[in-house]
Amino acid sequence: MKIDGFFTVLAGVLIGIPGTKGCTGFSSPHDLYLSVNGTLAAENQIPLNAAGYGVSHFGHGAYMVTDGAYQTFVLVSTAGVIVVDAPPTTGHKIQWAIGNLTSTPVRWFIYSHSHSDHAGGAYLFANQTNPKVTTIAHENTASQLAAATDPHRPVPKITFKDRYKLSAGNQTLELFFPGIGHDLGNIIIYAPKPKVLMMVDQVYAGWVPFWNLAASVYVPGWIKAHDQILAYDFDVYLGGHMGGPGNRTAVEVQREYVHDLFDNCAEALILSGTGENPNVDIAVISKEVLTNNPYNIWAQFAAYLDAVADLCYNATSSKWLGKLAAQDIFGYSHARTMVSSLRLDYDVLGPNDVQP
Ligand SMILES: *[C@@H]1O[C@H](CO)[C@@H](O)[C@H](O)[C@H]1NC(C)=O
Ligand SMILES: *[C@@H]1O[C@H](CO)[C@@H](O)[C@H](O)[C@H]1NC(C)=O
Ligand SMILES: *[C@@H]1O[C@H](CO)[C@@H](O)[C@H](O)[C@H]1NC(C)=O
Ligand SMILES: *[C@@H]1O[C@H](CO)[C@@H](O)[C@H](O)[C@H]1NC(C)=O
Ligand SMILES: *[C@@H]1O[C@H](CO)[C@@H](O)[C@H](O)[C@H]1NC(C)=O
Ligand SMILES: *[C@@H]1O[C@H](CO)[C@@H](O)[C@H](O)[C@H]1NC(C)=O
Ligand SMILES: [Zn+2]
Repeated sequence: MKIDGFFTVLAGVLIGIPGTKGCTGFSSPHDLYLSVNGTLAAENQIPLNAAGYGVSHFGHGAYMVTDGAYQTFVLVSTAGVIVVDAPPTTGHKIQWAIGNLTSTPVRWFIYSHSHSDHAGGAYLFANQTNPKVTTIAHENTASQLAAATDPHRPVPKITFKDRYKLSAGNQTLELFFPGIGHDLGNIIIYAPKPKVLMMVDQVYAGWVPFWNLAASVYVPGWIKAHDQILAYDFDVYLGGHMGGPGNRTAVEVQREYVHDLFDNCAEALILSGTGENPNVDIAVISKEVLTNNPYNIWAQFAAYLDAVADLCYNATSSKWLGKLAAQDIFGYSHARTMVSSLRLDYDVLGPNDVQP
């Protein structure tokens, strides 16, 4: 992007030129590409070696391998190595990292959930040339993988419904299904001795979540999982993303962000029916859109919902912009997703509630 182009966009945002966000007539300062310096994220990143990966050791044979964007959890036991997730982009670097840690072979591969960006390298560990590797996943993940018929993500041999305890030599690993949230079968993975807890695409230490509230299939379940995680006794939290481990504080901070977003979006929805703020007033917006575009109910709805999300985004940014990294990048998508979930899952319909 050209520098002068950037300043044009920025100036448009600062003086609030309507229409910079498309046809709705409402603008907001999204995608400013602010530096992550000074945010909580800047503290966490671990250095990568010349081969492009980094390893953190948490004691008791527990390690994280990262390429700077994704994370794999490695637990070394006296009976073999347990690997949780194999992001395809980290690929063979995971094998190099393990090869440099121990000569013990990999014996277990666990899917945190079904998604290929975290599991697309599973076949590097679990394949027909090595039938001794036992694959484990939640039963919903198994169904998703069976339907996908993806040679990179073999169907797991062991599945479970609520919880599963893996005893491997001197290690134990507890797997728990907290309910549908980010994915249909996303699990909590807990190693009690090193006090490491992994739940992937749930908390992003120091960052706002990935877009649309981590692209969750069921937002209320994803919100609730913050509390389910905090019920465990852990020191290290691994969310599967970015180049650094998190901790208990990171989970508490994201829970606070999500609760603020929930409150701000609920407030914006309720306000939109009161006539107190023309920026989100459903009557004002509908009249403007339908005058220019008669009978286009979807255009009216889109402009209205975008405006509500925008107000929620503004309120949330006033506290979190510059604190959690990339609020400017994904914060608006979070507001939109939260507004949708509030309407559909929580019955906060504002002006679209039961009519007289
Ligand atoms: C962010 O911090 C890094 C290292 O501390 C520094 O090299 C870089 O110049 C900083 N970037 C900005 C935009 O401040
Ligand atoms: C968690 O990590 C953050 C950032 O890395 C650090 O500032 C904070 O002190 C840690 N909290 C605990 C309880 O260790
Ligand atoms: C288990 O054994 C492995 C391999 O010898 C060792 O690295 C690890 O620290 C041990 N872990 C525990 C919890 O004893
Ligand atoms: C150790 O790591 C290097 C890259 O960092 C890799 O080339 C080498 O193959 C690894 N060793 C083993 C035994 O996996
Ligand atoms: C199959 O798995 C083994 C380790 O379990 C690995 O060494 C091998 O490279 C894998 N094969 C393929 C084709 O990736
Ligand atoms: C959000 O803030 C921007 C920038 O201050 C402003 O232009 C916009 O109107 C606000 N959105 C709403 C819905 O009030
Ligand atoms: Zn995912």
